[in-house]
Amino acid sequence: MAKIVILTGAGISAESGIRTFRASDGLWEEHRIEDVATPEGFEHDPDLVHRFYNARRAAAMAATPNPAHEALAELEADPGHDLLVVTQNVDDLHERAGSQNVLHMHGSLFGALCHACEHRWPAPEVMAPSDPCPSCGRAATRPDIVWFGEMPYRMEEIWHSLRAADLFVSIGTSGNVYPAAGFVADAMHAGVPTLELNLEPSAGSRMFDEARQGPASVLVPEWVRERLGG
Ligand code: OAD
Repeated sequence: MAKIVILTGAGISAESGIRTFRASDGLWEEHRIEDVATPEGFEHDPDLVHRFYNARRAAAMAATPNPAHEALAELEADPGHDLLVVTQNVDDLHERAGSQNVLHMHGSLFGALCHACEHRWPAPEVMAPSDPCPSCGRAATRPDIVWFGEMPYRMEEIWHSLRAADLFVSIGTSGNVYPAAGFVADAMHAGVPTLELNLEPSAGSRMFDEARQGPASVLVPEWVRERLGG
């Protein structure tokens, strides 16, 4: 049974119509990271932050999985493969394509978190700063998204899986944000072979044993067909 750890980023959802962060028309061209993706930004203007993520949630709900998400679900269903999808994405397109073993290291648009008592619950479609926490009742609702300056979720589990993997594959991520950007080096040090599938060379492309360039909707199904021997 081949153990594969897959890291995905915004590029895998781009062809589903979800904007990436660092493209010339990306989200970070229109919004300052400090304003909408940091705890300080939230403290300063929670309304703005909620509006930003409400719009991201609406875009994710309107999108549908593309052949890249679907191919990963198909590979996971194969009895010869043990797949873990570690995603930096906060959309739910992997799950909607049928993937089951998905770890959202940067959180999810579909989760709410009380920053007063840390209670978590499913996010409503539209969130506002005045929403009371269902557990402690305080108006301290935030999206359950990992912001800059915060620790991504389940890191020990990810590093453990990475070290035990037979292959590490990075798909649709620019390699700018740590710790995810360091997974290729972690895999390399553990002697795990590495493959990158991305539209263009990423910041860390040269560290991968193999890097293929093209759209995820083509590269990922192609690679999955190779794995499944078809
Ligand atoms: P980026 O926007 O930084 O990078 C997206 C990558 O996907 C780029 O390298 C593109 O070339 C590539 N790409 C675009 N379209 C593609 C396609 N159709 N097929 C294949 N590749 C494609 O997004 P991420 O690397 O995911 O974090 O960004 C990482 C983190 O930075 C995000 O999780 C987010 C952001 O700030 C937080 O908000 C905490």
